[in-house]
Amino acid sequence: MAMSLPLIFLQLLLAWLLGAAAMAASQALPGCENQCGNISIPYPFGTREGCYIGSQFLVTCNTSNNSPKTVFNAEYDRGDDFTPWMNLNRFPISNTQNKFTAVGCDTYAVVNGVRGRKYTTGCLSLCDSIDNVINGSCSGIGCCQTSIPKEVRSFNITIQSYDNHTNVWDFNPCSYAFVAEEAAYNFSSLDLANIQHREKLPVMLDWAVGYEPCDEARKNQTSYACKENSECYNFDNGPGYRCNCSEGYEGNPYLSNGCQDIDECMISSPCNMTCRNLPGTYNCSCPKGFEGDGSKYGSGCRQIPSKRLPLVNIALGISISMLVLLLGGSWLYWGFRHRKIIKLREKFFEQNGGIMLQQQLSKRDGSLQSSERHGSVKSFEIFTEEYLKKATNNYHESRILGQGGQGTVYKGILQDGTIVAIKKSKIGDKSQVLQFINEITILSQINHTNVVKLLGCCLETQVPLLVYEFVTNGTLYDHIHTRCRSSSSLTWENRLCIAIETAGVLSYLHSAADPPIIHRDIKSNNILLDENHTAKVSDFGASKLFPTDQTQLTTLVQGTLGYLDPEYFHTSQLTEKSDVYSFGVLLVELLTGKKAICYDRPEKREKFSHVISEGKAEQLKEFAIVAKGCLEVKGDERPTMNEIAMELQGLKMVEKHQWVKDKNNLEETRSLLGEVSVAYSDGGGTSISAAYDSMTNHVISPFDGGR
Ligand SMILES: *[C@@H]1O[C@H](CO)[C@@H](O)[C@H](O)[C@H]1NC(C)=O
Ligand SMILES: *[C@@H]1O[C@H](CO)[C@@H](O)[C@H](O)[C@H]1NC(C)=O
Ligand SMILES: *[C@@H]1O[C@H](CO)[C@@H](O)[C@H](O)[C@H]1NC(C)=O
Ligand SMILES: *[C@@H]1O[C@H](CO)[C@@H](O)[C@H](O)[C@H]1NC(C)=O
Ligand SMILES: *[C@@H]1O[C@H](CO)[C@@H](O)[C@H](O)[C@H]1NC(C)=O
Ligand SMILES: *[C@@H]1O[C@H](CO)[C@@H](O)[C@H](O)[C@H]1NC(C)=O
Ligand SMILES: *[C@@H]1O[C@H](CO)[C@@H](O)[C@H](O)[C@H]1NC(C)=O
Ligand SMILES: *[C@@H]1O[C@H](CO)[C@@H](O)[C@H](O)[C@H]1NC(C)=O
Ligand SMILES: *[C@@H]1O[C@H](CO)[C@@H](O)[C@H](O)[C@H]1NC(C)=O
Ligand SMILES: *[C@@H]1O[C@H](CO)[C@@H](O)[C@H](O)[C@H]1NC(C)=O
Repeated sequence: MAMSLPLIFLQLLLAWLLGAAAMAASQALPGCENQCGNISIPYPFGTREGCYIGSQFLVTCNTSNNSPKTVFNAEYDRGDDFTPWMNLNRFPISNTQNKFTAVGCDTYAVVNGVRGRKYTTGCLSLCDSIDNVINGSCSGIGCCQTSIPKEVRSFNITIQSYDNHTNVWDFNPCSYAFVAEEAAYNFSSLDLANIQHREKLPVMLDWAVGYEPCDEARKNQTSYACKENSECYNFDNGPGYRCNCSEGYEGNPYLSNGCQDIDECMISSPCNMTCRNLPGTYNCSCPKGFEGDGSKYGSGCRQIPSKRLPLVNIALGISISMLVLLLGGSWLYWGFRHRKIIKLREKFFEQNGGIMLQQQLSKRDGSLQSSERHGSVKSFEIFTEEYLKKATNNYHESRILGQGGQGTVYKGILQDGTIVAIKKSKIGDKSQVLQFINEITILSQINHTNVVKLLGCCLETQVPLLVYEFVTNGTLYDHIHTRCRSSSSLTWENRLCIAIETAGVLSYLHSAADPPIIHRDIKSNNILLDENHTAKVSDFGASKLFPTDQTQLTTLVQGTLGYLDPEYFHTSQLTEKSDVYSFGVLLVELLTGKKAICYDRPEKREKFSHVISEGKAEQLKEFAIVAKGCLEVKGDERPTMNEIAMELQGLKMVEKHQWVKDKNNLEETRSLLGEVSVAYSDGGGTSISAAYDSMTNHVISPFDGGR
């Protein structure tokens, strides 16, 4: 047996109307009823003429019963009991919210759409046992569903069974089929037996105004249904259009002033702090001292921590501060470096005995006041490293005057144009440093015309630098041995003067200086000559201060081979007589023109004649006697420097007209010279060579050819 379900749907339609426009109290035209019982009737619907937009929107309200009923001006056609027929004329069935449903286990149902779009569709529902069905699911087992197409305004339903429910009779004697709101029907297995407990199911109907789309309808403003602050949209389930309030508005778009502005600030409070309602929208803002968009869904409002600078200023600020950092960093770096350099300089200064020297100098300055007044002494200066670097053109090679065991001597030009000699010790040689300090200490105490003047020093470098007066004419050694044959060669008188001057210096050092000083390295190399052939004794590096209460000093043997006192060499006992010996060698050198150490074959005696023929016989003889005395093997037997100086001074006084003509006299001198050479050789030379031989395995025989 097949059975269809008659559904009362008009009431249900109004339920939809209620849902669609539930909010506003006044939804009808002024003076029109907007309710039927508890069912609201919004415009364009109306209960009497003048209250609706068109005749099809007339709603008849029957409140005679307890429950109010609204009846549309719709044709309601009913066929026979088994083929329900619906014709809703103006109102198409909502294709989105309704479904065609059939319930049964031996059922097929067909729905025919008419009066709009023609269609036929249906579904099949079967099952063998009630246990097979699934509650809530209309997938074809006990219940099947299918969609309703668009623009359906009327339909009829046909239900059929294959087997008269014979096989399922005990649990499903009937079949059901209906069109209803999808959400309103929930299939249950109980429905297979009897669906009567849900007699009424809602159907959703769509409606629209007009018969044309929005753009056409807008052309006739008198008939156009959408009022202020509303929007028109085309109806998609048939001809006509619908209206909707614009965003930010709510109400009935078909009424004048029906769309009212929504006060979002009141309803949803979308702002964090200050909210201002505007037509259709709202404005969030932040009070003074706050920043942000003010929206709860945006950045909100944040308290401004401090007066914020504009972006440009920030960028500027950042770059300036970076620059300052950079400059500051480099300033610090250079400052640090500078400090480091200064510290290093101070360290060297201290290490080089600078403080001691300063004390000595300041002490001396007091005592020097008087002599300075006479203009004879230029005060000792302490130079800076930088200053000397400039003066020597950064120690350029072209400025090198000489290079020796102790270091290098550079020619320097000071800022006032003074030419100086700057002695730079070899780096890393501690003993050299000590010699330098020694030299400074000694020279700072000497003030003698025939001593190379020490103008100053620099103690800021690793090894101290000494600044001397510049002596123009080279060393005595050069004059005797290298320039021998040139015209600038020394005359006998020059030689005598040099001997006298040197003797004067040594005499001064030994007796006048306090404490006495032993030079220790008298040699032709250390006697400098100026343009007038005036002797200047230099190189006090090896010199020793000689305390007066001691007559001899035990030291490490130091000196130059050939000039070295043999007694000192053997005993290491340093006395001022060691200088006397070296001076004796120097006298012989002056007299003979021979080097202190000569590896050549002996030269002929004629060699001497250059000097001898020039000099006065008496002078030469006396000179040779003095030299011989100096070269005595035993120091005690040598005269003192004072005596030697006096004697040489006396030689100069020998009258000029006594020219050497006497052959005997000359021979006498020659033999004496020979004797001197022998003494000279026997006295020191051989023994020194033997000593050196045993020390170095090198045979050095300084005067083996003297005879
Ligand atoms: C209207 O009132 C009836 C009875 O008072 C009630 O059953 C029904 O649910 C109400 N409808 C609405 C939409 O409130
Ligand atoms: C209102 O409904 C009742 C029954 O529910 C009916 O008898 C009456 O005729 C109806 N009135 C109108 C005006 O349709
Ligand atoms: C479906 O639900 C009903 C109660 O609503 C219950 O009695 C019945 O057993 C359920 N059927 C199935 C197959 O779950
Ligand atoms: C339909 O009923 C089933 C059980 O009977 C339930 O789980 C489901 O949530 C219901 N669905 C709706 C839409 O009411
Ligand atoms: C149902 O509607 C279709 C289409 O209009 C029609 O052909 C058919 O005869 C109708 N069925 C019944 C039983 O009226
Ligand atoms: C179903 O019932 C009808 C009427 O009672 C009958 O004419 C028809 O033959 C039956 N069909 C079957 C398959 O039993
Ligand atoms: C505009 O609509 C009004 C009311 O429906 C009608 O009287 C009028 O003729 C229409 N005007 C035009 C131009 O269609
Ligand atoms: C009409 O407005 C309502 C509420 O503002 C909205 O939910 C709906 O989606 C709108 N419909 C169309 C077609 O814009
Ligand atoms: C505003 O926002 C801040 C953080 O964004 C929050 O702490 C504060 O509670 C908010 N104030 C209000 C009134 O919502
Ligand atoms: C919000 O209000 C502030 C001040 O009243 C104004 O400057 C701003 O432009 C407004 N914003 C919007 C989106 O209207």
